[in-house]
Amino acid sequence: MSIAVLGGAGYIGSHAVQALIKKGEKVVVIDNLLTGHKEAIHEEALFYEGDIRDKEFMLSVFKKEGITGVVHFAASSLVGESVTNPLKYFNNNVHGTQITLEVMQELGVKHIVFSSTAATYGEPEETPIKETTPTNPKNPYGESKLMMEKMMKWCDEAYGIKFVALRYFNVAGASLDTSIGEDHTPETHLVPIILEAALGKREQVSIFGDDYDTPDGTCIRDYVHVVDLSDAHVLALDYLQKGNDSNIFNLGSADGFSVKEMIEEARKVTTKEIPAVIAPRRAGDPSTLVASPEKAKEVLGWKPQYTNVTTILETAWAWHQSHPNGY
Ligand code: UFG
Repeated sequence: MSIAVLGGAGYIGSHAVQALIKKGEKVVVIDNLLTGHKEAIHEEALFYEGDIRDKEFMLSVFKKEGITGVVHFAASSLVGESVTNPLKYFNNNVHGTQITLEVMQELGVKHIVFSSTAATYGEPEETPIKETTPTNPKNPYGESKLMMEKMMKWCDEAYGIKFVALRYFNVAGASLDTSIGEDHTPETHLVPIILEAALGKREQVSIFGDDYDTPDGTCIRDYVHVVDLSDAHVLALDYLQKGNDSNIFNLGSADGFSVKEMIEEARKVTTKEIPAVIAPRRAGDPSTLVASPEKAKEVLGWKPQYTNVTTILETAWAWHQSHPNGY
């Protein structure tokens, strides 16, 4: 009775491993370490280094460890890169999920919790975004995640593999004990970039566009704490283990913060100047993405505790100060 966490050495995966172990699950991490970090893997988790597209490897690990459920984070996740190299995203994300589902089907594994994204909605038709808001991805990354959701839907119909797709909004923050945090190369996300500027590792933050149709002209996002997000995966697994049907949930806070507001809050939290300049818009950025997380609260009983921008920035800042060069 073990849970396979695919991509468990990555930023979100490693935090979810912590949450699953805290709940008492036996965890097997599978990660190819292309973007993940060995140091991020919990000492109580078993670790297999390998690629989810390698079916023989996956079959052997699943059989040896008696895998009964899967939590799937293993994917490429850079929006910009996905536009210039879409085939990488269809191969790693879509094909990797196909192999995972084949292995699950062959071995009779019935539960998968899946890391999806607000990028499946594209430029949303309504705010806050509900799970019923039409999906219309604007880049191959979001498209690949929507394709993965659809593969799971059809595998549920055909083989009874039940899934929960968790559509994350903007995930940030770090574990409260600062043992793990966000370390990407290259870094593209706003919160770590702001904190690298606070540490003096970057000269300044570039604000990508100040002419959006928002109160201060900069893009609005919904920031969710990685520890709360991880807890939602534990609840989703529990939901499936209790025999519930496949489902999709948004994970966010229902509150939007602009890029300028995030920089301002980071100046307060860090007491650093954090120079910022206005730069051109980044291609493909929707102006506003704010979730309605009501369904996750009602159905899964999700109760975010740390999802406010001050706590998100404080925990991320503690991680960045204690790991100025990452892992
Ligand atoms: N931004 C800047 N300067 C920077 C970096 C970001 O102004 O140096 C802005 C972006 O333009 C955006 C906001 O800060 O308006 C947040 O950008 P992030 O790159 O941190 O996050 P995104 O909203 O682009 O993307 C995140 C995830 C994606 C996911 C998407 C939608 O990183 O994987 O949310 O769910 F697809």
